[in-house]
Amino acid sequence: MLFRPTVEADLDRLLGCVVDESISWAHPDRLLTFLEDRQYRHERIWVAEEDGEIKARAVWWGFPDGDRPLALDCLYVHPSVEDRVSLAADLLRHAHDEYGQAPAYHVFLRKEWRDDPKASAAIAWRQEAGQRAGLTEELERLRYQWTPGSPVPEPSGRLVFGPDPDDEVFVAVFRRVAVGSLDAHTRQALTTMDGDAQARDDVADYRSMPGDRSWWRLARTPDGDLVGVALPSANNQGPVVGYLGVVPERRGQGYADDLLAEITRFHAERGVGRIIADTDVTNVPMARAFDRAGYEVFAIRLVLSPKL
Ligand SMILES: CC(C)(COP(=O)(O)OP(=O)(O)OC[C@H]1O[C@@H](n2cnc3c(N)ncnc32)[C@H](O)[C@@H]1OP(=O)(O)O)[C@@H](O)C(=O)NCCC(=O)NCCS
Repeated sequence: MLFRPTVEADLDRLLGCVVDESISWAHPDRLLTFLEDRQYRHERIWVAEEDGEIKARAVWWGFPDGDRPLALDCLYVHPSVEDRVSLAADLLRHAHDEYGQAPAYHVFLRKEWRDDPKASAAIAWRQEAGQRAGLTEELERLRYQWTPGSPVPEPSGRLVFGPDPDDEVFVAVFRRVAVGSLDAHTRQALTTMDGDAQARDDVADYRSMPGDRSWWRLARTPDGDLVGVALPSANNQGPVVGYLGVVPERRGQGYADDLLAEITRFHAERGVGRIIADTDVTNVPMARAFDRAGYEVFAIRLVLSPKL
């Protein structure tokens, strides 16, 4: 078996790989579009090849101008392969060695996926392969959407929202908001870096998104005391909630609702079609705030990642 990244000449055979297992995958339209705008690149698509046939394929995603792959987007093994777990694990290991890291695998599923034997089986073998290749941590995220049929929340009047051009101000607030966060990514990051570095990373990540920096808001009481942040943003698919957070000493007073309402109103007033947001199933206060604000769960994002 030969493990290698692909080249342009492999394209036809790459387009012939079909995943029919009720999970997200790099289907031909996606493959062509993403190769075109460089979210996919041949050097980040790996195959296991035998006698000129593709027996397994792994496709990583990254920002078009980014310098590294950020997420595994698709893992495929040809139905004729008997031990698909071992082959997929070997393929991932070869690519991880070359990358010097193991990017997380993001799988998108219907919200009832656990009741669907096809989707559950699709996840089970990929999970085992991922584990053998170092993707040992599992996180389930709820994908919420707000659509124009849902009500646009009125301001409660409890908070005053304003921009601030200084990134350092946002770094300081992000740092405070991260304390006691129930968000798995934030908690994991804080086990390997200090609060300042973690906040800087987050601000840099939100800066790199297609949403406008001028949309970012600080939330204060009418007396001027800081309560939190509200960052409407956008990704390549469209408007997203981005980020919101309440400083620890102000939690438990329903401010999450005010911040989310501000973001929803902001996008709604721009006339957007829909607003997407992800939150961990374990971030219960945040999930409840989405439920109250008329957002509905439309899918699940399962993230398999290495232990930091
Ligand atoms: C999620 C968050 C915005 C909730 O803000 P909030 O204004 O306190 O939310 P609510 O007032 O609706 O809280 C509801 C309940 O959850 C509790 N709660 C809120 N945040 C909590 C936390 N981080 N840890 C434990 N309990 C929390 C509240 O105390 C309250 O409990 P009660 O009903 O017993 O009074 C806030 O925890 C936060 O800023 N977390 C860090 C950033 C984050 O996770 N952002 C979302 C990323 S998508």
